[in-house]
Amino acid sequence: MSNVVVVGAQWGDEGKGRIVDWLAESANIVVRYNGGHNAGHTLVVDGRTYKLALLPSGVVRGKLGLIGNGVALDPEALLAEIDRMAALGIHVTPEVLQIAETATLVLPVHRAIDAAQERLRAQPLGTTLRGIGPAYEDKIGRRGLRVCDLADPARLAQQLAALLDHHNAWLRGSGLEPFALEPMLGDLLAMAPRVLPFVGRVWERLDAAHTAGERVVFEGSQAVMLDVDWGSYPYVTSSSTVAAGAASGAGIAPSRLGRVLGVSKVYATRVGEGPFTSEAHGATGDTLRQRGGEYGVNTGRPRRCGWLDIVQLRQSSKVAGIDLLALTKLDVLDGFESISLCVGYTLDGARIDYLPASEAEQQRLEPVYEHFPGWRGNTRGVRSWDALPREAQALIEAIQREAGVTVAMITTGPERDDAIVLRAPFADAERAAIAR
Ligand code: GDP
Ligand code: IMO
Ligand code: MG
Repeated sequence: MSNVVVVGAQWGDEGKGRIVDWLAESANIVVRYNGGHNAGHTLVVDGRTYKLALLPSGVVRGKLGLIGNGVALDPEALLAEIDRMAALGIHVTPEVLQIAETATLVLPVHRAIDAAQERLRAQPLGTTLRGIGPAYEDKIGRRGLRVCDLADPARLAQQLAALLDHHNAWLRGSGLEPFALEPMLGDLLAMAPRVLPFVGRVWERLDAAHTAGERVVFEGSQAVMLDVDWGSYPYVTSSSTVAAGAASGAGIAPSRLGRVLGVSKVYATRVGEGPFTSEAHGATGDTLRQRGGEYGVNTGRPRRCGWLDIVQLRQSSKVAGIDLLALTKLDVLDGFESISLCVGYTLDGARIDYLPASEAEQQRLEPVYEHFPGWRGNTRGVRSWDALPREAQALIEAIQREAGVTVAMITTGPERDDAIVLRAPFADAERAAIAR
């Protein structure tokens, strides 16, 4: 068994998609296990950009993609994405994509509720408005519709009617327009013949992969700080983003997951609301945003930018079980005279080295910074450790030391091969390298 789980180690958008794309070259299968089209994963290959939301990033290489039961699947978004990929020459057929029968469906009513909840909240969360939270609420509330229900029109009609009864009471009570069964039912039935050929037993395919010794990459979306349990609640998404989520969200034993590769930028960003202790306001934040192209892949929202928060990274690595770290976007720090790492916090004047659970305490944290000299010249496109400026090497060594996680990979540009590989993430590849 030599699988890898890719987990965002910050607040999302760390570059997970491009890391998965790189891993997919030497893997057979890529699996999405959480989230839905709130994700936006970018791949740049020979100057061509692919933006994926629901499809596993391996489809760009023609690798088998699996969408697990833990994913919230909007069938409309899925079909639109398949069409967008076809226009780019990537043909997503049932030979390269399988969707779990038990994945929960995101419906138009969920999108409307997402928007209404945001409007009604005293403190909006800044969700992606994709309906993801309300769809998971319905799943946990045991009134959700699942992909397999698309095959049974009579049952689908019954379930949808019950779901709408539930939500329409709240919508009416909030002075909002209720939803009619039609046209939503009609739209679902119209989409069913395109979706159903992709549907299968993902758990069984993963079991067969294990027996055959195939390599599997689990592609996390969102990140530890957006995890519903481990993130900065309530400013989080509604799914389990950590490696454990891959086991329950795909249908595989935890012992078969293999290594966990965390992905972190060498600085930090967050999109949406919530505490962000090392946020850099003013010129530094603006420079990071411009150089890093820090705007949402799907929503276009400007991302909040700041320095790398080591306390957060260390804690996230522990709770998510991160074994190895991929550090991305080193080139974005080119040209900074001085680079800061947040190595501790003070809370009401006292030094602490963990992220407190209380939101009020998180909001009161003050960062403690250590400063590092920047470098001359640029790291963009550098593909070997030795070619990096000494100051960049020192920064990476400091991150590794302070965060307590081994750096396996550094990326120096958005293109597929703009990367420095220090350790083979697949355990069997490493054993082979040692044997040689
Ligand atoms: P994901 O959600 O974790 O897959 O990340 P996103 O795709 O949302 O955001 C990462 C952004 O950074 C994308 O625009 C990538 O093309 C870009 N990117 C990834 N790695 C690098 C890198 O090493 N350098 C630079 N400059 N951009 C990168
Ligand atoms: P990827 O996979 C960054 C954020 C939203 C909001 C919060 C809740 O590309 O890293 P939701 O719509 O999920 O209910 O929003 O989570 N968020 C993300 N931020 N990257 C993502 O995905 C995100 N998915 C959700 O901005 O703060
Ligand atoms: Mg993203």
